Amino acid sequence: PTHRDQDRSTESRGGMIPLGSPALPAVPGAFRNTPDTDLSTPANQAWAEQVTHRIRGSVLGEEEIRAARVDSVEGVDELITAALDAQPGWAGLGVEKRALVLRRVAGTLAAHRAEILEVMASETGKTLEQGDPEVSEAIDFALYYAEQAERLASLDEVSFTPRALTLVTPPWNFPVAIPTGGALAALVTGSSVIMKPAPQARRCGAYIGGLLRQAGVPEGVFTLVDVPENEVGRALISDPRVDQLILTGASDTAALFASWRPELRILAETSGKNSIIVTPHADLDLAARDVAASAFGHAGQKCSAASLVITVGSVSHSRRFSAQLADAVLSLHVGEPTDPTVQMGPVIEQPGEKLTAGLTELGDGESWLARPHQLDEEGRVYSPGVRTGVAEGSAFHLTEYFGPVLGMMHAGSLEEAIRIQNGTDFGLTAGLHSLDPEEIACWTEGAEAGNLYVNRGITGAIVQRQPFGGWKRSAIGQTAKAGGPNYLVHLMDASDPEAEA
Ligand code: SER
Repeated sequence: PTHRDQDRSTESRGGMIPLGSPALPAVPGAFRNTPDTDLSTPANQAWAEQVTHRIRGSVLGEEEIRAARVDSVEGVDELITAALDAQPGWAGLGVEKRALVLRRVAGTLAAHRAEILEVMASETGKTLEQGDPEVSEAIDFALYYAEQAERLASLDEVSFTPRALTLVTPPWNFPVAIPTGGALAALVTGSSVIMKPAPQARRCGAYIGGLLRQAGVPEGVFTLVDVPENEVGRALISDPRVDQLILTGASDTAALFASWRPELRILAETSGKNSIIVTPHADLDLAARDVAASAFGHAGQKCSAASLVITVGSVSHSRRFSAQLADAVLSLHVGEPTDPTVQMGPVIEQPGEKLTAGLTELGDGESWLARPHQLDEEGRVYSPGVRTGVAEGSAFHLTEYFGPVLGMMHAGSLEEAIRIQNGTDFGLTAGLHSLDPEEIACWTEGAEAGNLYVNRGITGAIVQRQPFGGWKRSAIGQTAKAGGPNYLVHLMDASDPEAEA
């Protein structure tokens, strides 16, 4: 089961075109989250078998996966000109027609769930269990932003004007939901979009681009480019005709892009060093399960992932929690996404220096509760690692590793645990496991992170219900949260009609 099972209702889905494609609400206020595939039914298990068969065979042909390759600064100039030429017509369509296109995108995504899972698994190693909720999230973004655009357009007290050109640079770890969400948010406001997928997820980006086109997003209004991150990428970001950048990626990348053009409006959600506190008042069974899922889902390659668990008081001393956590972690089925029962897949590429250190080097006073082992020849599949005895202020406490390794830290009190949790540069997600209302109140008051989760895993934010965004070094720009009611507001210029009159 995925972490979403608690939160989403499920429905039956069978055949290659899933049953129960999203309800396309025409009535504002009717947004509902899209259910994930319920893999407990025989029909959907047969569907999953077909999907993994596709993954093994890489069924999609190259003609279904294309992106414009731009190798020169002149090429950048041409595509920006084309995007700007197309924008007034798109804005002139009006919000209702653009919202309709987004709803068609939702339907197209739902109809291609199997193909999307295939391209995600074969290109980025994402398992079916992790990929299926991501398709649901992409559909949710389409339906939710359509509805939000209509809501904002209906306000009397303020009117909004689109910005002409938005650049979207998504990451490889959510290669479908994040590009789709960013592009559609800007598109529904009436902006043209140029999107540059991450180099590790080009095929995913290109496949999504094809689906947008199929659903009726006009040429020029949405352009997918494959631009190297050298002077060509720099020319794209530095061009003064680009009004804004929606970026999801490492903090260092965001800082680099900001340095290229300091006045560029950037909405960025970046790195994290996230932890879950477990107090003696927690349900330890639930905590062990949620920590394992948050740390090792998608092999820990989520900005939202749990990288630390901070045990308080007797939880550290009794050994019951660490024994349960070890059991939960060691029983994860690790392997390639061609096996539908695999819960943790490979890392995106052979680990660089930082992740290698996280998987091998112990700091002072640390030892392995579960030592990570390389399980394949290539060096991409690792068993999950759990280290204990991580000290406050140590490398493991402060560094984001972005891989399948978790550190355990001890705190004498909840206050000390909160200090340790807040003691990093980042502030993306944070969790608490406790059933005590006073502890919960104290923690929600003190925790410094964009997304706080109580008695739940800390990954898998759900559109509308848990708008997602960071604090501190986990964000740049206004604290706009994706999948929340104010996201589109940050992408437009607002004016007060009465002040103008
Ligand atoms: N939205 C994702 C999550 O919540 C991270 O980008 O896990």
